[in-house]
Amino acid sequence: MKILLAPMEGLTDVYMRDILTTIAGAQGYDWCVTEFIRVTQQLLPAKIFYQYCPELLQDSKTNAGTLVHIQLLGSDPQLLAENAHLATELGAPAIDLNFGCPAKSVNSHRGGAVLLDEPETIYQIVSAVRRAVPAHIPVSAKMRLGFNDRLPMLDNALAIQSAGASWLTVHARTKADAYKPPAHWHELAKIRQHVTLPVIANGDVNSMSSLAQCLHESQCFDVMIGRGAVIRPDLVAQIRGTQAALTWSELVQWQLKFLDDMHQAVVQPNSIHEGYVKSTEKGAIGRYKQWLAMLSQHWPQAKLLFELVKKESLYQKIVALVLASAAYP
Ligand SMILES: Cc1cc2nc3c(=O)[nH]c(=O)nc-3n(C[C@H](O)[C@H](O)[C@H](O)COP(=O)(O)O)c2cc1C
Repeated sequence: MKILLAPMEGLTDVYMRDILTTIAGAQGYDWCVTEFIRVTQQLLPAKIFYQYCPELLQDSKTNAGTLVHIQLLGSDPQLLAENAHLATELGAPAIDLNFGCPAKSVNSHRGGAVLLDEPETIYQIVSAVRRAVPAHIPVSAKMRLGFNDRLPMLDNALAIQSAGASWLTVHARTKADAYKPPAHWHELAKIRQHVTLPVIANGDVNSMSSLAQCLHESQCFDVMIGRGAVIRPDLVAQIRGTQAALTWSELVQWQLKFLDDMHQAVVQPNSIHEGYVKSTEKGAIGRYKQWLAMLSQHWPQAKLLFELVKKESLYQKIVALVLASAAYP
């Protein structure tokens, strides 16, 4: 079974990818995907690719050695093809195309999930990107079941396949479903009956039991995990059977590392990621609070800590609170 870390804008950035792939270990994730890089009008400068994927500077691998694929979002086949080509010249090991983003600001410019009503455009995009990148570099797509309804899901899957994609990840919801539970895993089994390319199941896998249920209902062999991986950083190592659950005090050390890594980018901006990834103290604190709020969904200690941290705005005070929480039972 392949397990992939989902692209999540503002969440699975270089810092989170580093932490999660390190905790998951060498046998953990098969690869990660960057947050979407939006392509609207031009060939992007190389620095944008390094910003989203500083791992390009180290063979496109996280520190733990897990590959990072680049995700592009846009609607112009030629422009996407040119940007995909540049990404591969910079070292991207694979290109993923986003046909799932539900954001209004993106959809109103014909990007993301809105294209699910235009299978022909999806075909043109995947074909153009496929032609533009070297044959040994996979091109993949990630989609939802549809925009308002699931009617176009088979047409889109077939378009993506006939355009030459190497695999297709499906978030088992429409754009209209937003993130409302449940995820409709059984629809993926229908898609699988109509295509031969590998279909990767995605949506609401956040425990051993939901993984088993998802694989059963979707009839897929591979899975992509997003929020569940951030809420339970040890989930993938447990699925792989390589590690017991993290203790809270171990998780505290990872939180401190997350804070410190982001803080280094503030105090020594050129020493980390060669200055490509910008950070501010406020930004780093916001990112940490966001993670802590998510951890609170699984870890009672995180909930207690969040109550103390949420109004705090001084980095050093937050670090002290996190350190002290290691003693929580
Ligand atoms: C905060 C957030 C940001 C996301 N950003 C992206 C993105 O940049 N590209 C993408 O393809 N999907 C994005 N997604 C969708 C996820 O990759 C995934 O399909 C979705 O969260 C369902 O999987 P999950 O239940 O395992 O989280 C995002 C989801 C969230 C919650």
